[in-house]
Parts: sequence; structure tokens; C-alpha cells
Amino acid sequence: MNEIVCSKEEIKEICQRIGKELTNKFKDNAIPPLFIGVLKGSLPFMMDLIKEVNCDIELDFVQYSSYIKTKSSGVVVLKKDIEKDITNRDVVVIEDIIDTGRTLDKFHNYLLSRSPKSITTVVLLDKKSKREVETPVDYVGKEIEDKFVVGYGLDYQEYLRNIDHVFVIDEETLQRIDKESK
Ligand code: IMP
Ligand code: MG
Repeated sequence: MNEIVCSKEEIKEICQRIGKELTNKFKDNAIPPLFIGVLKGSLPFMMDLIKEVNCDIELDFVQYSSYIKTKSSGVVVLKKDIEKDITNRDVVVIEDIIDTGRTLDKFHNYLLSRSPKSITTVVLLDKKSKREVETPVDYVGKEIEDKFVVGYGLDYQEYLRNIDHVFVIDEETLQRIDKESK
């Protein structure tokens, strides 16, 4: 049996709650905030979250890679850069999960070097006990235990991103995907 760590209903509540907070934060902006999704895992969360934000926003994307199978490799490599100029703009970083903190820390420092007006970081899930690098996170959907989770953007070997909730992958599913993804 797969153990659910964040259900469809919980995800909806999280998007509504954080969406409201972001609306209040940016509703009087003269220049819309730039929402930057960290590909590919943040996509489902970002798409649901932005529908709960009731003010003008713009979108951009960045991609890093660090995970090999179920373990962080520790080396974070930039695969796709943002396209917009963020000088003096409010940016909102959207990420699926924070684990060691290396990915968000690297991105945060990168953004800082480009002089934005502000950086707001939003994560759906936080594996707080795994943190190795301290980096600011402003909004957390849910804190979870140290287990490898998949679904709703989160993958195992690129599989399972399209499931509408987050769950702990079981041994049987792991083995099936290992076989199929060779
Ligand atoms: P960090 O750099 O260690 O904080 O890891 C962040 C990245 O690792 C996330 O963007 C995810 O892509 C990936 N990741 C961390 N934990 C999990 C997990 O439990 N399932 C799937 N991907 C994960
Ligand atoms: Mg990711």
C-alpha cells in the first residue's frame, strides 16, 4: 500500500491558503511579481497555486538537477536559466520540495546576484530534518518526515509526476519502474 503524505484535498487547502497570502502581499504592486517555477517538479503545484492568486503576475522557469534515483547527489547543476530581467522586481520562487536545501540555496544566491527587489520562496513540502544548508523559506505547504515521496510533480526516474497527490513510493512500484526505465 502507498502511504499518502499530502492528499488532493490538502493540496487544495494549501494552494488556497498560500494563494491568499501572496495576493495580499502583491495586490498593490505597480509591477507584477515574477513567479519562477523550479522545473520540473514544481509544475503541478505552481499551476494550482497561481489560480488562487488574485492579482497580476508573470511566469518564468529555471531548472536544476541534483537527484540520482532516490538520493540527492549533492551537486546542483543549472540546466535552464530564467529568461526575464529581475533587476528591481519582486520574485516568487515556487518549488515542490526542500530537502538538503542545496537547490534553493544555490538559486537564492544566484537571484541575489541579479539585484531583485525581493525574493519570496514557496515550497509545497519541507523535509526539515534533512536540512544541510540554511536558506530562507517564506511559505511551506506541509512539513513531512524524511521519506522519499512521489506524485504531484515529484518523480522517481521521471515517473509518477502526473499523480494528483503525494505519496511514499512502495518497494513493488520502485522495482517496476527500475525495470521499465532501463
Ligand atoms: P535539495 O537540493 O536537497 O533541497 O533537494 C531539492 C530537490 O530534490 C527537489 O527539487 C526535488 O526535485 C528533489 N527531491 C528531494 N526530495 C525528494 C523526494 O522525496 N522525492 C522526489 N524528489 C525529491
Ligand atoms: Mg525539483
